[in-house]
Amino acid sequence: MRLRALHPLLVTLCCGILSIASPGITSKPAGPNTTPEALERNQDGIYNYTTAEHSISIADFSAKDNKKNIVIEDVLHLKLQCSLVVASKDLQIGVSWRRNNQPISSNLYTYNNTDNLLHTTYEFVVTDTNKTGDYACVFRSGAEVNGTFHVQAPPIHGGSKALVSYYGDFIVVKCDTSTYIPQKWTWYKIIDNEQVELNISLDPQKYEELSNKLNETKLQITNLSEGDNGGYVCKATFKNVETEAQVHIKVLSYMVPLKVFLVIAAEVAILVAVILVYEVISKKKQGQEDVKKDYEPMAQLKSEDSNIAEASTARQRKV
Ligand SMILES: *[C@@H]1O[C@H](CO)[C@@H](O)[C@H](O)[C@H]1NC(C)=O
Ligand SMILES: *[C@@H]1O[C@H](CO)[C@@H](O)[C@H](O)[C@H]1NC(C)=O
Ligand SMILES: *[C@@H]1O[C@H](CO)[C@@H](O)[C@H](O)[C@H]1NC(C)=O
Ligand SMILES: *[C@@H]1O[C@H](CO)[C@@H](O)[C@H](O)[C@H]1NC(C)=O
Ligand SMILES: *[C@@H]1O[C@H](CO)[C@@H](O)[C@H](O)[C@H]1NC(C)=O
Ligand SMILES: *[C@@H]1O[C@H](CO)[C@@H](O)[C@H](O)[C@H]1NC(C)=O
Ligand SMILES: *[C@@H]1O[C@H](CO)[C@@H](O)[C@H](O)[C@H]1NC(C)=O
Repeated sequence: MRLRALHPLLVTLCCGILSIASPGITSKPAGPNTTPEALERNQDGIYNYTTAEHSISIADFSAKDNKKNIVIEDVLHLKLQCSLVVASKDLQIGVSWRRNNQPISSNLYTYNNTDNLLHTTYEFVVTDTNKTGDYACVFRSGAEVNGTFHVQAPPIHGGSKALVSYYGDFIVVKCDTSTYIPQKWTWYKIIDNEQVELNISLDPQKYEELSNKLNETKLQITNLSEGDNGGYVCKATFKNVETEAQVHIKVLSYMVPLKVFLVIAAEVAILVAVILVYEVISKKKQGQEDVKKDYEPMAQLKSEDSNIAEASTARQRKV
């Protein structure tokens, strides 16, 4: 407060340089501004919402991987805190916050020092669905160190592979949010790259929600046709975040498996035919050889016969 009163420009311009050595400078509360966060805070005096506090303690400037994952489900007021252990009281340490690598206005966070600890707090109301992202407190004194809060919506699982069914048949597409319980589920169909909400209750012959669990949704689509092909989006709406996943379905005509079957059947038929023909030919050959072997003497006999016959005809002619 005192720092702001004395050097308002210093505070706004250089995002807060805190000298540990100066005992007078202990706190820089958030100043008046017109952001939604501030309006909400001012109206209620204190935040009137479910609050979640998360902190990261940083040992020193060489500390690495000071990270924390935060899933926001029904929390409306998020209080992020970092503390840095400061060895030397003479250090000039810059304190700042960044969201997705963009600086956060210095009006919105506070910092103080107690003993050898430097604290900074950034708090905000999760007013819209896109407050997710990486929030980092950054301490700088020649070297730089940060603590990063990865604020995310509950994870949602759809299908990674396209589901396949056939014309006239039905299919069930599903999504789940594991242990997180959304307030509602909504299904969309992607038509011309746009999400069009499905009229599940308006079209009970076509669509039916099968699941009665809150952490999952199962949509049954019946009487599949060409038009049902494509991408579907399941959206889980929590108190302050939405999360969505895509599921793809592929509707096939029975002709497709039939074709495959016919091709295989034809191949088998050809193979069988080839084998049969081969067998027949090789049998014939074998047969001819056998016949040759068996009938060679007979052939001689035959020719002898014909000789006899010839002779007899000759004799007959002579007669
Ligand atoms: C603040 O909380 C109180 C009690 O929980 C509730 O009655 C009141 O409506 C809330 N105010 C707002 C603005 O939500
Ligand atoms: C300094 O900030 C921390 C958290 O940011 C808080 O817990 C502590 O009470 C504050 N101390 C003073 C003296 O303001
Ligand atoms: C937040 O989402 C809304 C639409 O839901 C969008 O208009 C706005 O630009 C987004 N803000 C940020 C900071 O991404
Ligand atoms: C935080 O520090 C890590 C290295 O520990 C760095 O990769 C990252 O870019 C830093 N983030 C910010 C916002 O400075
Ligand atoms: C959904 O929640 C129930 C408990 O209500 C749990 O048994 C089940 O495993 C959850 N489903 C998934 C997909 O995690
Ligand atoms: C849902 O119904 C509205 C009108 O009731 C219609 O305009 C819209 O196209 C329907 N959506 C789908 C996906 O059929
Ligand atoms: C299935 O859809 C076709 C049009 O795609 C429609 O003519 C037929 O009546 C539907 N059958 C049932 C049982 O809904």
